[in-house]
Amino acid sequence: MDKDPPAGRRDLDSARARIGEMFDRIAATYDFLNHVLSLGRDFAWRRKVAGLLDNGGGLKVADLATGTGDLLIALSQRHPDLTEAVGLDISEQMLNVFRQKLQRIGLGDRVRLLRADASATPFSGGTFDVVTMGFGIRNTRDVRATLREIHRILKPGGRALILEFSLPKNRVVRWCHVEYLRHGIPLIGAVISRDRQAYRYLNESIEAFYPPGEFCALMSDVGFTRVSATPLTWGVASIYQGSK
Ligand SMILES: C[S@@+](CC[C@H](N)C(=O)[O-])C[C@H]1O[C@@H](n2cnc3c(N)ncnc32)[C@H](O)[C@@H]1O
Repeated sequence: MDKDPPAGRRDLDSARARIGEMFDRIAATYDFLNHVLSLGRDFAWRRKVAGLLDNGGGLKVADLATGTGDLLIALSQRHPDLTEAVGLDISEQMLNVFRQKLQRIGLGDRVRLLRADASATPFSGGTFDVVTMGFGIRNTRDVRATLREIHRILKPGGRALILEFSLPKNRVVRWCHVEYLRHGIPLIGAVISRDRQAYRYLNESIEAFYPPGEFCALMSDVGFTRVSATPLTWGVASIYQGSK
């Protein structure tokens, strides 16, 4: 018989069950806080993901958990010749912020947005050349199911590029970073978004997420090949790559 999960794990599971509502609540302040909390590094991390594609010509790209769209915008600006760019998210308010941004920067006709769950998308198998996901997979209720879905919607030979928070390997850097996650982030998040709970969830979900080696093993397990993890900024985030 399955044992009950520990209390901390139950809290995370219940937060994930209402994840769309949580992101709806913080959508208006998400971008600003994201840049503040990552000390501006998030721009460079997304540009790095976009730079992993040598050539966008003719490619169909889906960005899952696209949120307010900064990763898909970085990809579309770096590769103006993408054939298709689709952003998918479960939170309507995050998508609304993205829609307004697209109009502002004149990309409204190049990106299609839809509201759906990343672990059960409406796309046919083998649709995309590239599937990206920035800081989203950690939030899904079933990480394995989401990876399987990414694998399913990729064409044979297609690539998954997943950007996610991780914990630094160096013990001193890790200790400092965990202190920042546990105390700094919920405090700054509460002041700016007035939602301490959302930013407490952020640090708990980062600490509970798979270490890079285990996440790579999971990607291989669902069928990805040439799996790799590249640490960014002392390992506070990582880019995971895999091919179908
Ligand atoms: C931390 S934000 C990341 C947004 C964006 N990708 C970025 O790089 O800033 C996480 C996003 O994942 C979305 N999300 C969480 N669970 C999801 C799911 N199961 N399916 C689709 N989107 C999901 C949330 O609504 C939120 O917009």
